[in-house]
Amino acid sequence: MDKFKVLVTDNISKEGIDILSREGNIDVEIKAGIKSEELEKIIGEYDAIITRSGTNIPASLVENPGKLKIIGRAGVGVDNIDIEAASKKGIIVMNAPTGNTLAATELTIGIMLAAARKIPLANDSLKTGKWNRKKFMGIELYNKTLGIVGLGRIGSNVAIRAKSFGMKIIAYDPYIKKSKADSLGVILFDNLKDLLKEVDVISFHTPLTAATRNMITAKEIELMKDNIIFVNCARGGIVNENDLYNALKSGKVFAAGVDVFEKEPPESNKLLELENVFATPHIGANTMEGQEAVSVIIAEQVANALNSRPYLNAINIPFMKSQLPDNLQLYFDLTEKMGKLAAQLAKGRPEMIQIVMVGKNFEEDLCERKFDVPFSFQPFTIAGLKGILSVSIQESVTYINAPYVAKDRNIVVEETKTAQFDKFNDLIIFTLRTDQGEMNIAGTVFSDKLGRIVLLDRFHLDVIPKGTFLHFKIFDRPGIIGKVGTILGDHNINIAGFGVSRQKSGEELAFVSVDDPIRSHVLDEILKIDGMIEAKVIDL
Ligand code: NAD
Ligand code: MLT
Repeated sequence: MDKFKVLVTDNISKEGIDILSREGNIDVEIKAGIKSEELEKIIGEYDAIITRSGTNIPASLVENPGKLKIIGRAGVGVDNIDIEAASKKGIIVMNAPTGNTLAATELTIGIMLAAARKIPLANDSLKTGKWNRKKFMGIELYNKTLGIVGLGRIGSNVAIRAKSFGMKIIAYDPYIKKSKADSLGVILFDNLKDLLKEVDVISFHTPLTAATRNMITAKEIELMKDNIIFVNCARGGIVNENDLYNALKSGKVFAAGVDVFEKEPPESNKLLELENVFATPHIGANTMEGQEAVSVIIAEQVANALNSRPYLNAINIPFMKSQLPDNLQLYFDLTEKMGKLAAQLAKGRPEMIQIVMVGKNFEEDLCERKFDVPFSFQPFTIAGLKGILSVSIQESVTYINAPYVAKDRNIVVEETKTAQFDKFNDLIIFTLRTDQGEMNIAGTVFSDKLGRIVLLDRFHLDVIPKGTFLHFKIFDRPGIIGKVGTILGDHNINIAGFGVSRQKSGEELAFVSVDDPIRSHVLDEILKIDGMIEAKVIDL
C-alpha cells in the first residue's frame, strides 16, 4: 500500500482530519497559518495540501511541486489558488462546493435583516446605556422586491427563505435555465439593468470573474430606486466599494450588509466608517455544521483521489490531453474554441449542446477514465463544453467539471459520430441550442496543422480561431466593409486578417482579426454604419 502525506494549512474541523487518519496510509500534518516562505520550502514533501481561504497558492508555490498531486479547498471559492499553474503541473485542484451553502445563505438573510433594521447599531447603543428608540427606524422586507444576482446554490436558497418573508423575488443569472427559476417561483430577468430598476433589496451570489468584477458601479447605482439595501456575501469586488461608499454616504442607498471585501483583511476601508454599513469579517461559511461539512467533503475527496478511488469536485485535469494523438489534440483545441465562439455569438440561455464527430479520425473511443464517473464523453465534447461554459463561469470551469456544470444547469449534452458530412472527411460540428434559437459551427484541421472554423450556420468561412476578432454581419452592398476598415484605422487598430462570406439572401458575414483591443466606443461607431446588421468583439 502506498504511503501519503497530507498537509493542512488552515483550521479545518477535526472530523475531516479523522477521515484522513483512518485511511491507514495517510499521515496528516497540521500547520495552520504557515507563512508562505516556509510553505514554499516544504510543499513538495506532501502528496496533498488542504487549505481554506487563509492560504494563497500562487504559481510560484507550485513551480517545483515535488510530490504534490492534490490541492484541496475546504470551501467553494478557489480564487486563492492559481488553477492554471496547478493544472500545468498536473496537480488536481478540488473544492467542497456544497458544504457551506446553507451557512452562507443564513448569513445573507441575517445580514439583510441586520441592515434593514439596524440591529447591530441598536445593540451597541443600548449596551452603552442609551434608550434611543427613535433613531432605529428600519425598513420592512414584506412586500419588497429582492433582486438576486447569481441564482446558483446560495442564491436559490436565499430566494426560498426570502419568499417566506412575503418578498417578491427576481433574479439575474444568464447561465441558468428559466425552468430552474420557475421552479423556485423566481422571475428571471434577461438584463441586469432591468432588474436594477425594480429592486428594493439586492443580494449578490456570483463568483468573482472578469464579468462580475465591478458589475455594480456608480452608473448602475444611478439606475436604482432610492433607499435600497445592498447585500454582498459572495466576493469583494463585485460591487465597486468606492461607488457604494458614495451612495451610502449620500443616502441614495439605505444600508449595506457586507461580508466580503476587495482586500481582506480590509485596510483603511472607508465602508467600515459608515453607520449604515453592517459588516462581518468573511464569516459566511463559519457555522459548526458548514465547517464540519466542508472538512468531511474535502477529506473524503482527497483520501479517495490519493487511493485511486472515484472522487468528485475536481476543478481541473480529467485526462491528459498530451496522451491524445497529435491531430486529435488539434481538434481538441479547435472544439474548445468553437464552444467559446458559440458562447459569445449566441443569444439566449443554453439548453442543448451537440457535438458531431465526422470521419475516421474519431472512430476510436477515447474516453479512458480511471474511475467510474457518471460521464463518459469524448475529450472533444468536454473541450467544447469547457469552451462554452468558461465564458460564463470562467475561473472554475475545467475539463473535469464541465459536464457536471452543464448537468447542474440542465443543459442536455449529445454526441454522435458520422462517416462524412458535405465535402468534409474530418470535421467537428458544434451545435448550440438556446431558448432563442440554434447555432451551428463546424471546424476542421487541414494538412498545415491549423484548426479552422469552416462553417457558421449557412456561411462558409476560413477562420483560424486565435486572438481578437471583430465579427459583423452586413447587407451585401458596396462601401460598408471600407467604412469598418476606416474606423479601425482611425483608432489605430491594426487589421491582421480578414475573412468574408456572402449569402444569396443578400447578407455578408465577416471575421476581422485585429492586433489591438476594440473598445466599446469604437464598436458603437461600427454599429452605427448604415447597412450594419450586427457587430461584436470576439476573444478566442
Ligand atoms: P454557484 O456556482 O452555485 O452559483 C453561482 C451562480 O452565479 C451560478 O448560477 C452562475 O450561473 C452565476 N453567475 C456566474 N456569472 C454570472 C454573471 N456574470 N451574472 C450573473 N450570474 C452569474 O456558487 P454558490 O455556491 O452559490 O456560491 C456563490 C458565491 O458565494 C461564490 O463566489 C462563493 O465563493 C461565495 N461564497 C462566499 C461565502 C462566504 O463566506 N461569504 C461562503 C460560500 C460561498
Ligand atoms: C468559500 O468560498 O467557501 C467561502 O468564501 C468560505 C471561505 O473561504 O472560508
